[in-house]
Amino acid sequence: MTNQHEKSIKGILLAGGSGTRLYPLTAVSSKQLLPIYDKPMIYYPLTTLMLAGIREIMIISTPHDIPQIKRLLGNGSDIGMKFDYCVQPKPEGIAQAFVLAEEWLDASPCALVLGDNLIFASHLSQLLQKAVQRKSGATIFSYQVSDPERYGVVTFDENGKVTQIVEKPKDPPSNWAVTGLYFYDSRVTEYAKKIKPSARGEYEITDLNKIYFENDNLHVERLGRGCAWLDAGIPASLMQAGNFVQMIQARQGILVGSPAEVAYHRGFINAEQLRAIAKKLNKTDLGRMLMDVANEGFNQK
Ligand code: DAU
Repeated sequence: MTNQHEKSIKGILLAGGSGTRLYPLTAVSSKQLLPIYDKPMIYYPLTTLMLAGIREIMIISTPHDIPQIKRLLGNGSDIGMKFDYCVQPKPEGIAQAFVLAEEWLDASPCALVLGDNLIFASHLSQLLQKAVQRKSGATIFSYQVSDPERYGVVTFDENGKVTQIVEKPKDPPSNWAVTGLYFYDSRVTEYAKKIKPSARGEYEITDLNKIYFENDNLHVERLGRGCAWLDAGIPASLMQAGNFVQMIQARQGILVGSPAEVAYHRGFINAEQLRAIAKKLNKTDLGRMLMDVANEGFNQK
């Protein structure tokens, strides 16, 4: 017996856009392939989807950047994943991802992550599992920031219930920004098709979330003090993200944003497969740390 709810969740990694806020860094290179310390930016959101237990991922990017991303990530089989690729001809909005991926999604529930978002939290896997297990509605994550006008913003009533969601408000009604990680049920494509382009000409992800909100089916998880959310969309935040990763890795001897490590800990690959990946990186600290993980020394799950 199969019905839509029994389909396993798929992931979309949206890694297109023109990266104009990072020019000239992005004049020839994809933003999502720029380094965050010792790894390409795209590794971090990819790892977030993998921590949610997602193994099938559609990577969406520009016609120009898809070949480079494919060269980096391949079909995913070396880390026990399955990657497919889709071109977004023009950056017409984040919500367009669900329309582009409609056939591939085949009415599965879906998680979307933006290719420039980095989330670091000790209990992230549990939080993500909660979102995966929710059979109906949407789950989004919010984080307190000092510059909410740059983001989608949510407000809550005294019981923690969402009262409003708005995109880049000039006069933000709260400091709770919406992060670039979203979980949706199987109705997502149907809803995404209802959205009309905004004043800036984009299919806005906030308009999709508003549909779930209006149906009383938008769940917002607040990420607290123990979490870090960084988006690497401008030079200062790119630098901050790199410094953050360097600091955690050096201080704690743990890896942040390594798809190979997550694949091993989730049982997608075995120690021998991880060693093979680590060997190729043996001139780097990253390679040495992965080898330690495979040999079950230094790093803990
Ligand atoms: O980072 C979280 C924020 O992301 C949310 O708080 C906002 O609600 C949401 O609209 C989005 O805001 P941004 O201004 O950061 O969106 P941006 O246009 O920069 O796009 C985010 C990423 O998605 C970026 O890395 C490029 C990619 N993208 C974007 C668009 C519009 C695409 O691949 N295709 C697109 O059409």
